[in-house]
Amino acid sequence: MNVQQLLKDYPLIKNIQNTEEVIWMNPILKNTVDALKDISVTSDMVQDASDRLDRFASYLQIAFPETEKSKGIIESPLVEIPAMSSALQNILQTEFDGELLLKCDNALPISGSIKARGGIYEVLKIAETLAIGEGLLTEKDDYALLASEEMKRFFKGYSIAVGSTGNLGLSIGIMSAKLGFQVTVHMSSDAKQWKKDMLRDKGVEVIEYASDYSKAVEEGRKQAEKDPKCFFIDDENSVDLFVGYAVAASRLKKQLEQQGKVVDDNNPLFVYLPCGVGGGPGGVAYGLKLLFGDNVHCFFAEPTHSPCMLLGLLTRLHENIAVSDIGLDNKTDADGLAVGRPSGFVGKTLEHLIDGSYTISDEKMYQLLALLTDTEKIQLEPSALAGMTGPIHLAKNGVNLKNATHIVWATGGGMVPEKAKEAYYEKGKLLLNR
Ligand SMILES: Cc1ncc(COP(=O)(O)O)c(C=O)c1O
Repeated sequence: MNVQQLLKDYPLIKNIQNTEEVIWMNPILKNTVDALKDISVTSDMVQDASDRLDRFASYLQIAFPETEKSKGIIESPLVEIPAMSSALQNILQTEFDGELLLKCDNALPISGSIKARGGIYEVLKIAETLAIGEGLLTEKDDYALLASEEMKRFFKGYSIAVGSTGNLGLSIGIMSAKLGFQVTVHMSSDAKQWKKDMLRDKGVEVIEYASDYSKAVEEGRKQAEKDPKCFFIDDENSVDLFVGYAVAASRLKKQLEQQGKVVDDNNPLFVYLPCGVGGGPGGVAYGLKLLFGDNVHCFFAEPTHSPCMLLGLLTRLHENIAVSDIGLDNKTDADGLAVGRPSGFVGKTLEHLIDGSYTISDEKMYQLLALLTDTEKIQLEPSALAGMTGPIHLAKNGVNLKNATHIVWATGGGMVPEKAKEAYYEKGKLLLNR
């Protein structure tokens, strides 16, 4: 890689190298209709995923009683956070127009993070395909029958493997083990100990690696290649994961309508999505563009030490560039975002649809974590705060935010044990008071 040439072509890389907080506005953003023409994922595929999740609702209610209230639909609240909005503008000394909302994927049932959307969906799709193939299920059946001991014995004959920084592993591990599959999660060094412990408690085999996420994924892929009865869930390239995440958009649209929040030419929607390898935020952004077109503006948010998607998009090198190529260490406490090389599939799919991308320091994520707890009594994990500085960046860049609705996607935190939550908060509080 010729870094000197990259620095000449893209001067922003110098600031990224210095781990400064930066924002990049996408110079090749197209209008939605034109951008969608070149994308192989379609709205029918997202609808198919949504229908499949509906078919599984009766099963999910039995398997996870916490989904009874939502009738087996795995969805999270959308809430106004006015006190946080004022505190944020105050502490970062920048005012912005518009209302600030939080999409609380930390409160998603079953595994408490955005990764539950795609991860659980893909496991369900594998289970459905196997059961239908074996003549044990038809699409017309009540899927509650999947909770039977007979079905569990059937699924035991198959295994699922995944590489993860933590939260994808949790969602795949919990869902697969519940259905009866044998499951192995290959975890990167960044994954928190409690995530590994929780999975082992549920009977999941956890293999740990001293290196980062890309290695964990590679090992998972290798394991699956050797075994025809093993399904590898590919966080870097999976279209199923992607469409599973994209289903979030139609659900969000309904929530906005129910809450009387208008999105149109005069009332733009801005959505800020913490980004690791890209699948979760990319899928959600894609789904939103399908429904809101040019009236929605989506931004990725990454740690200053792991801005892999930003680098991939900026240089258009996608999966052919890693943060280590420009000397960054990929070390961040935002474990879900500790990814050094982006998904080429997601980068290329979104390259004309994503409005921009920005970075945030670990220190600021912790500070905002404590601030959100103090102002709104909502506790997240550090990764989930990455979106919070989006409106600040845009205001500083002179973007017109009149009548805007800002949605910060709170991507995780629901599974964090009390002790770890307290430690996160204490750290944030110390940094705030410095
Ligand atoms: C809390 C949290 N937020 C955001 C993400 C980013 O998702 P993706 O890696 O699909 O970009 C992750 C990934 O694990 C996560 O755990």
